[in-house]
Amino acid sequence: MKISAIFTLGLALVGRSAAAAMENNSTYYNPILPGWHSDPSCIHVSGTFYCVTSTFIAFPGLPIYASKDLVNWKHVSHVWTRESQLPGYSWATKGQQEGMYAATIRFHDDVFYVICEYLGVGGKNSGVLFKSSDPLSDSSWSDAVTFPAPKIDPDLFWDDDGKVYVATQGIILQEMNLDTGEMSEAVSLWNGTGGVWPEGPHIYKRDGYYYLMIAEGGTAEDHAITIARSKNIKGPYEPYANNPILSNRGTQEYFQTVGHGDLFQDGEGNWWGTSLATRSGPAYRSYPMGRETVLFPVTWNTGEWPILQPVRGKMSGWPLPPANRDIPGSGDGPFVSDPDVYDFHEPSTIPRNLIHWRVPRDGAFTIAADGNNNNKKGLQVTLGRNSLSGLPGGPEPAAKAVSFLGRRQTHSLFTFSVDLDFAPQAAGQEAGVVAFLTQAATIQLGVVLLDDDDSQQQLSFRFNASGKITTTDVPAEWGVGSGEAIRLEIRMVKPTEYVFSAMLASSSSSSSKVELGTASAELLSGGSGSFVGTLIGVYATCNGAGKGLDCPEGTPNAYFNRWRYTGNAQYISETEAVPTGKGACKVRKTL
Ligand SMILES: *[C@@H]1O[C@H](CO)[C@@H](O)[C@H](O)[C@H]1NC(C)=O
Ligand SMILES: *[C@@H]1O[C@H](CO)[C@@H](O)[C@H](O)[C@H]1NC(C)=O
Ligand SMILES: *[C@@H]1O[C@H](CO)[C@@H](O)[C@H](O)[C@H]1NC(C)=O
Ligand SMILES: *[C@@H]1O[C@H](CO)[C@@H](O)[C@H](O)[C@H]1NC(C)=O
Repeated sequence: MKISAIFTLGLALVGRSAAAAMENNSTYYNPILPGWHSDPSCIHVSGTFYCVTSTFIAFPGLPIYASKDLVNWKHVSHVWTRESQLPGYSWATKGQQEGMYAATIRFHDDVFYVICEYLGVGGKNSGVLFKSSDPLSDSSWSDAVTFPAPKIDPDLFWDDDGKVYVATQGIILQEMNLDTGEMSEAVSLWNGTGGVWPEGPHIYKRDGYYYLMIAEGGTAEDHAITIARSKNIKGPYEPYANNPILSNRGTQEYFQTVGHGDLFQDGEGNWWGTSLATRSGPAYRSYPMGRETVLFPVTWNTGEWPILQPVRGKMSGWPLPPANRDIPGSGDGPFVSDPDVYDFHEPSTIPRNLIHWRVPRDGAFTIAADGNNNNKKGLQVTLGRNSLSGLPGGPEPAAKAVSFLGRRQTHSLFTFSVDLDFAPQAAGQEAGVVAFLTQAATIQLGVVLLDDDDSQQQLSFRFNASGKITTTDVPAEWGVGSGEAIRLEIRMVKPTEYVFSAMLASSSSSSSKVELGTASAELLSGGSGSFVGTLIGVYATCNGAGKGLDCPEGTPNAYFNRWRYTGNAQYISETEAVPTGKGACKVRKTL
């Protein structure tokens, strides 16, 4: 989209939202949690909304986002930040899309609960329940109470008599002891309306009915939300005559796969819902951000079935709470719409929105002390013995010895760059940037020492788009061996293509910039990562040298500095984009 088109669109949108404000209803854009944020579960507690989303094997896992206005979402904690909360689970997980499936967040008697199922660790309890008195803090989340969970997507529901119930895929219901994890015999509640995979249940009690809202049809284009109700928690459940109550199946909408939702009330008593959706339509081919979180208004009159407003990019509905970015508490998390501006000065910690693929090895990622003995600074990364694609399944080290750190791609168009200070000593030592969906689907640009035909070692760029490799010599005049940093960049100027470039970090202009590869976003859409979404970040590896978990002794670390991610546009339909961040402010001010 040309800049002029964005400006024109901005004008049109401001005009329309002013009209909406006169009716007091609001206008906002989906997704509210852009990028890989599937299976949202959300609650409202004393003026603050909290959501949790699925993270599968990523670590830290189960992010908590908090908001006062349903538009500005701050990443305030992760439920799973310590390996000791679930000892041994992460490294035992071989699959790319196992781990933490859809969670439910609930608040009861001053305690926050997140319940989830962890897949892929045979022989151990897969149900996990975490508790917290302060979800704005990582450390407040408890170790897991584990329980046997034969089915995914546990819900948590307290009945008026104090009994606690867990509904899961199926849909089946069990009573749970929250302290011991003991579960009662399962009762079948409802099999849905005939779509595959009845799952993602949530129970709400209202006007004397138990409402059972579920997802059906699988998580792709046939995904939908359906509902049934009963006067008795164990049924029989009467399905609603107008199911599904939410779906974009069979449509040409840009937002596809709408389903797996949760409902909650705001402080004014208005109902809202969140669900997952994929900005992929109508062709459903290029969707590297995977399943994202969308918000929709809900009308739920006494004694009636809830009415969920269809999911679109531009929404209008109940008045939103006043814009408010003041989320109290530990306060060090970024808002999802904010750019990353990370310089990794000591004593900072690794920013909350940067995550690994499984628990990293102790000490593999640290912030180098300013003025340390080798005079290196920034994010210090120990090279992983395994390359990014070193698939686990064989010896255990494969899972542990991958060094990767990334953030969600949260914008249709963005620019990411980072400065790499790295002097490989032996062939195969490599560090670089990557667009990462799973270990089997990556687009990466590394700086690597390669043996050439005459057994000479040549410092090279290696661009690898899911196995399609090109190498280019690093210009000798850049002086990389003598400590000059290289700026590596990943950029999207259209939502279907990644462009990878490098330049000398110290050059004041980008005159040294060289484009080293482009690749289609379809490489990172679906396939081995149909449940997850693209992460943009860095990696370092000695590509299998050494033994056990370790690269050979003396292997140098890689240092990353000046990490920048800026969102440039958010598409809300195939042809319309809304500008983001600073760009958006500028457009409004100009008007
Ligand atoms: C709409 O907003 C105006 C001004 O704030 C207020 O006076 C009016 O009562 C509101 N109307 C409704 C239906 O809430
Ligand atoms: C759902 O299907 C299963 C398997 O066919 C059956 O055993 C169960 O009774 C059904 N549940 C309900 C509530 O109809
Ligand atoms: C305001 O939003 C609610 C919820 O979507 C909807 O039911 C109602 O019709 C809207 N009112 C107007 C005047 O558009
Ligand atoms: C290139 O990427 C493919 C697919 O991700 C991977 O299997 C292969 O090991 C990579 N090659 C190198 C040299 O990194």
